[in-house]
Amino acid sequence: MYSRITPRTRVVFIANPNNPTGTMVKRGEMEWFLDNVGGDVLVVIDEAYFEYVEDPDYPDTLLYQNRDKSILTVRTFSKIYGLAGLRLGYGAGDPEIISAMHRARHPFNTSSIAQEAAIAALDDHEHVKRSRDVNREGLRYLKDELGKLGINHTPTYTNFILIDLGKNPMPLYNALLREGVIVRPLGGYGLKTHLRVTVGLPEENERFVRAMKKVTGK
Ligand SMILES: Cc1ncc(COP(=O)(O)O)c(C=O)c1O
Repeated sequence: MYSRITPRTRVVFIANPNNPTGTMVKRGEMEWFLDNVGGDVLVVIDEAYFEYVEDPDYPDTLLYQNRDKSILTVRTFSKIYGLAGLRLGYGAGDPEIISAMHRARHPFNTSSIAQEAAIAALDDHEHVKRSRDVNREGLRYLKDELGKLGINHTPTYTNFILIDLGKNPMPLYNALLREGVIVRPLGGYGLKTHLRVTVGLPEENERFVRAMKKVTGK
């Protein structure tokens, strides 16, 4: 991404961890990028899956806000907090950037109810911990079972897992649909042999594995 920056570049978006790969940019890589990118390029770091990451090498970019750089960190209540229906997230950046966003944003773009719910959610550490625990265990189970089925996956730092079937995944996708299991084809991202599987509750993960065994005949 750094090598693609030109004098015309205004904004760079980095999703960390990234969707749909589940991969992460490590602290050293992020710091190198931020140190080398010009201050006139706004770097937006989308940390939608921030709360799921347990790797000590994950960079919390809220800590970089005081560098002499244009950094905007954005997070959401849609993921670990389970409040996607409320349509609320937050961002932190230089007051000048926030002020420019205030001038461009829609008026009344969130509701007071969503804001109250989000403030309460921020204090619900027990929920976040439980979600992280359920996700960690779900990932472990899915990785194990996918391994047994001989299916490759990309190491993930999120609540989903990218699997590579090495061939057109649509027949499997459609067969899973008929079993009542919805996964995500990623042709739109140029990942033509992959599917993304989101971690669910234990019984949902087990249902996915049962369906996989049935439709692959393994
Ligand atoms: C990287 C990333 N950012 C943002 C979002 C969406 O967040 P929100 O529901 O707050 O629009 C998603 C959800 O799919 C995502 O994967």
